[in-house]
This record gives sequence, C-alpha cells and structure tokens, in this order.
Amino acid sequence: MSSASAPGKVVLFGEHAVVYGRPALAVPVAQVHADVEVSESADAGVWIDAPDIDLYTELSTVPPDQPIASVIRNVFQNLGISTFPPLTIRITSTIPLASGMGSGAAVSVAIIRALSCMFDRPFPDETVSALAFEAEKFYHGTPSGIDNTVVTFARPVYFIKSNSPIGRGNRGEGPFIETFQVKKPFTIVIGDTGVPASTKESVGDVRRLWQADPPRWEKVFDAVGDIVQQARRAIEVGEVDVLGPLMDANHALLQEMTVSSPELDQLVAAARSAGALGAKLSGGGRGGNMIALVTLEKREQVEALLRAAGARRVLVTTVESCQT
Ligand code: PMV
Repeated sequence: MSSASAPGKVVLFGEHAVVYGRPALAVPVAQVHADVEVSESADAGVWIDAPDIDLYTELSTVPPDQPIASVIRNVFQNLGISTFPPLTIRITSTIPLASGMGSGAAVSVAIIRALSCMFDRPFPDETVSALAFEAEKFYHGTPSGIDNTVVTFARPVYFIKSNSPIGRGNRGEGPFIETFQVKKPFTIVIGDTGVPASTKESVGDVRRLWQADPPRWEKVFDAVGDIVQQARRAIEVGEVDVLGPLMDANHALLQEMTVSSPELDQLVAAARSAGALGAKLSGGGRGGNMIALVTLEKREQVEALLRAAGARRVLVTTVESCQT
C-alpha cells in the first residue's frame, strides 16, 4: 500500500492578473488536505474510489478529459507502465470543492505521489507539479499553474507563470517560482461563502473583458502586480500592518474585474467591521472563499462576525516560512 497527502492553499495576492503574467503570492493551508491511498485490488482493473464526489468506477470507463482519470493515466505513462495492474485508488479530501482552495490540485498531487511511490519510483517535485498542471487545464481552462505549484511545494510561493514577458523559468523554462521569507508570522481567517464557483468561468469572463479592451485591463493587472510586489516586500521585512490596506486595494481591483459577488463582498465587509486589518476574496471568486488579515486580539471577533454574516465554514491559518 502507498499513501500521500497534499494541503489546500489560498492566494494571498494577485489572482487573475497572474494569468496575464503578473506575479502572485500563495500559501499552503495545512488544516485541509487531500489524501490518497493506493492498494492492490482483488478485482482486475484500476478502481477509482472517490466517495466525496460519488465516484466509484474503473479507469477504462472514464472519459480521458476527466481530471482524476487523466492524472492517473499520465502517471502510468510517465512510469512506462502500459498494462495496468489491479489497484484501488481511494481519494478523500477535506478541502471544500470549487472554492478557490486548490482542491483539484491537491487531489492531483496526492494521486501522483501515492501512485509513483506504489511503484517505488517517487517523482521529484518538479515532475509532480508539471503533471498536476496538466490536470489543472481540465479544471481551469487556462490555468497559470499557481495552484499545482503551491500545493506541490507546500510553502509560501511567489509565482510568475511561464511564457510571460516578465516571467522566466528558474532554469530557463517553466514558471518562475520563489519561496519568500516570512519575517514575522501573521494570521489569516478564511471565510467560505458556501457558494460553489467555477474558476474556469471567472477566468473565461476576465479573458472576455481583456479581449474587449486590452489597454484598460493591462493597467488593472499592472496595479495588481504592484500590490503583489509591495506585499512581498512587507512580508519579507515583517511589516504586517501594511498588508491589510494592500488586501483591500486588491479586492477593489478584483471587484472591477467582476469576479467578486454579493456573498463575498458581505463577508469582506463583515471582517473589516469586526476589526480585520484588511480583507479580500481569494482564488477564482464569484463564490468560494475570502481571506482576512487579523491580529490575535481581533481573531475571534472576526470569526464570529463572519459566521453571523453567513460564512459556512471559517478556518484560521498562520502564515510562516515553513509550515509543518
Ligand atoms: O483555483 P482558484 O480558484 O484558487 O484560482 C486560482 C487563481 C486564478 O488566478 C484565478 C486562476 C489561475 O489559474 O491562476
């Protein structure tokens, strides 16, 4: 038997603009995770057992564009295995679906690790992330690659997608990825609207806006990129207070991109009124999660007001250089 886990994630700054080559900051959220167990099966075939999404089926019956099946087939191909052994792949996850917390990427990463370990050939992180990126295309359409990156490396990530004018792969290809230092740990409250939302749709809508007026939206994306750079500097020098207004400014630009929603705006307003230093939506938007930066004194008040304002689930995470 072989097993693997992968964490959830939140985007701190820079979602959507990152699809257009601007940088973004994302951090893992260890409190939620996807877990995969691979075991030998008594029955012939590769059985996918994913109770959270009511999926129990044999691999050959699943269409090639189903993300879980595509990940499994890709792993076998990379291992050079063409005759599939009898296996059961059990997938469970505590990461809310379609909520901007990287559930698809975490499931992919955990499958890739558990399956490659089952054959005693664990892939290096770069390969894990690259294979998970392939599956992200089924979930997201035109993903930047930030989700698979932060989930694979499980540490705070400064990310610029590949093929962008300002991005360059650390080794000449692929995205530009750096881990940044968190001088002073800070606390984030994550509030879930409970509204499932498709990142593919919101990314597609922003693309249509951009296509209709590229100069206007390039300026907006530049403004987001500036916020990301300022936020990274503030985190690296431990000026946590500066991050609150930067979150507020990033949220306003995401509203302009039309990816917020009444539920998200309500939770953002509730967090601010409860004393959060700043708040914004996180991820694809239109639903899913928002994040608020809090001091330890205000943390419980913010949690309580988020629940009162309709949050279905509230998580608290501390961002630090290495999360265990
Ligand atoms: O998976 P989500 O919903 O957290 O979205 C990731 C961030 C986006 O910038 C909206 C999309 C992407 O691929 O970068």
